Amino acid sequence: MITVRPYLPEDRAAVLALTPRLAEGVATWRDPGAVSTAVLGWVTGSLERTGNDDHGTFVAVHDGHVAGFVTVTVRTHFTGARDAYVGELVVSPEAERTGVGSTLMSAAESWARAHGLHRVTLETGAANLPARAFYRSLGFTEEDVRLSKPI
Ligand SMILES: CC(C)(COP(=O)(O)OP(=O)(O)OC[C@H]1O[C@@H](n2cnc3c(N)ncnc32)[C@H](O)[C@@H]1OP(=O)(O)O)[C@@H](O)C(=O)NCCC(=O)NCCS
Repeated sequence: MITVRPYLPEDRAAVLALTPRLAEGVATWRDPGAVSTAVLGWVTGSLERTGNDDHGTFVAVHDGHVAGFVTVTVRTHFTGARDAYVGELVVSPEAERTGVGSTLMSAAESWARAHGLHRVTLETGAANLPARAFYRSLGFTEEDVRLSKPI
C-alpha cells in the first residue's frame, strides 16, 4: 500500500537519490552537468523551505521505502492570480505505473486547496513525453509553450 505524508528530515537521502530523474526529458542541447547541478539545487532549495507555510513537500512510502516525492509552493501568475506550483515530482523507477505519481499529485492538490488556491501549474520538458502523458491523464492542459533555436 502507498501512503503519502509530509517530508521528514530522515527522508533527505532517499529524496536526493531520486532527484537525478528530474534531468529526464530536458532538451538534449542543454549541458548535462549543468542540468544535474540545477536539479540538485532545486530540490535542496525546496527541502530547505519545507516547513514554511507557503511550501509543501510530500513523500510516498511503499513497503517502508520512499517511492517518490513532490514539492508544491505558491507562484503568482502575471495576471496577479496566485497559483499552486508543483516544482518537482519524481517516482522511483521500480514504483512507476503503480499510481504513486497520481497519489503525490493528489496530495499537492489538497495542499493547494487548503491554502485557498484554485489552480495547479507546473512546467516540464517538451521531450518528457512520459510526464506529459501522465499530466494529461490527470487533466492538465498546456498553457504556455517556450520556443528555442540555436543562432
Ligand atoms: C512522470 C512520473 C511522475 C509518473 O509517475 P507514475 O507513478 O508512474 O504515474 P502513475 O502510475 O500515477 O500514472 C498515472 C497515469 O499517467 C499516465 N502515465 C504515467 N506514466 C506514463 C508513461 N510513461 N507513458 C504514458 N502514460 C503514462 C497513464 O495514464 C497512467 O495510468 P495507467 O498506468 O493506468 O495507464 C514518473 O514517470 C517519473 O517520476 N518520471 C521521471 C521524473 C519526471 O519526469 N518527473 C516529472 C518532471 S516535471
